[in-house]
Amino acid sequence: MDILLRGGIVVSGKNSKKLDVLIQGSKIKEIGRRLSADNVPVIDCSGKLIFPGFIDAHTHFDLEVSDTVTADDFESGTKAAVCGGTTTIIDFATQNKGESLSTALNNWHMKAFSKSSCDYAFHMAISDWNDRIKEEINDMVEQGVTSFKAYLTYPAMMLSDEELFDMLSTLKKYGGIVGVHCENHGIITALTKERKDKGELCVATHPKVRPALCEAEAIDRLLSIAQIVDVSVVIVHLSSKEGLQMVRHHRKNGCKVFVETCPQYLLLDESRYELKGLEGAKFVCSPPIRAKEDNRELWNALKTGEIQTVATDHCSFTTEQKKVGLDDFSKMPNGLPSVESRVVLMYTYGVCKKRITLERMCQLMCENPAKLYGMYPKKGTINSGSDADIVIYDPKCDGFISKNTHHSASDYTPYEGVRTKGMVERVFVRGKEVVRNGEVILENKGKFVHRAKSTL
Ligand code: URP
Ligand code: ZN
Ligand code: ZN
Repeated sequence: MDILLRGGIVVSGKNSKKLDVLIQGSKIKEIGRRLSADNVPVIDCSGKLIFPGFIDAHTHFDLEVSDTVTADDFESGTKAAVCGGTTTIIDFATQNKGESLSTALNNWHMKAFSKSSCDYAFHMAISDWNDRIKEEINDMVEQGVTSFKAYLTYPAMMLSDEELFDMLSTLKKYGGIVGVHCENHGIITALTKERKDKGELCVATHPKVRPALCEAEAIDRLLSIAQIVDVSVVIVHLSSKEGLQMVRHHRKNGCKVFVETCPQYLLLDESRYELKGLEGAKFVCSPPIRAKEDNRELWNALKTGEIQTVATDHCSFTTEQKKVGLDDFSKMPNGLPSVESRVVLMYTYGVCKKRITLERMCQLMCENPAKLYGMYPKKGTINSGSDADIVIYDPKCDGFISKNTHHSASDYTPYEGVRTKGMVERVFVRGKEVVRNGEVILENKGKFVHRAKSTL
């Protein structure tokens, strides 16, 4: 069906202009002033912002981890995503040790197929690096999985420096890119033992065994290896000013590195871990949330362009699941839900607080992730020929975030009661309206996005 969006402010990474947008079928046909189209339904968008559909390049849906499985699967997770204005997610297909990458990819296709309300793609998280896996990399790239993940901590998934070196060399050959979870595993293990020996088992100990230098050290090591191999890499979920300083240091030496951060590292601070019992447990994620000063440094780095993307690292558990770690913080399932709140939080606390412009918001959550992960200009932009993934955002209304209204299967949100400005009013995925006034009106129509190589 064709639809004309009349008179909204169309936002791109360069500017924001009052324009009409003509959707034809699943694509954007035309953008311009006073477009006419006979017998086409018209939506009056005056006073509204029109964004390209937002991309969340870091989610974990239906992931088995810490002897449990995330609260959100693709069904609930992608409903939450579209309600929050996200039209494409990139989830982490995760290889179990001993498993082939094609098995892991098949598993993730089965988890997502016919359950997704937004479009989806996969990074391949590699837990086991060997010659057999190496031979599958080209096949992954041909199947549209052009990005990978490596962990420098978590015993079930972490790679050694030698494996990382070999992986980067292989990805360089096939044009894949890797996002890396940067924390030094040895430091975490030693500090955890030290604290547990002293009987410090509560949630407040979690950030103490994962200090910012632990992130900075792993970044230093990753970027040194990447520079020797001479390949670009991505640092996912950057949390600290020490980590950022390390990025600056390596960039000065010519290292090409892209950086992602998440709302929790911009808006929440470590005082949350002092909250008693389950209240503190709600904020346990890795890397941990840091100090207010880290929040400020990261906001500034978004403004200066030192950080290229904002994703969520949505990895949701219920409070019941979090209870497992109440008497021993090291057993707590790590991760937070936030796929539904990212856009409204970045608009309210980024754009309205003048920390970033509307255009930067569009770069960070639309254009840059689309380019970095090989989906541009199909996704991430409002241009003729692009997929008609569009968010109509009403900047005027006031609201607040609550577990009572969100769509995640988690029974809490780390942003309970947080005031917001504006709301995601309508969402289109490939020309089909999937959300109206905060509710899903068309579900399970998401498709797999076969991605090309990075162009950022
Ligand atoms: O605590 C977190 N972030 N859990 C999700 C997995 C990861 O490390 O990205
Ligand atoms: Zn991670
Ligand atoms: Zn993650």
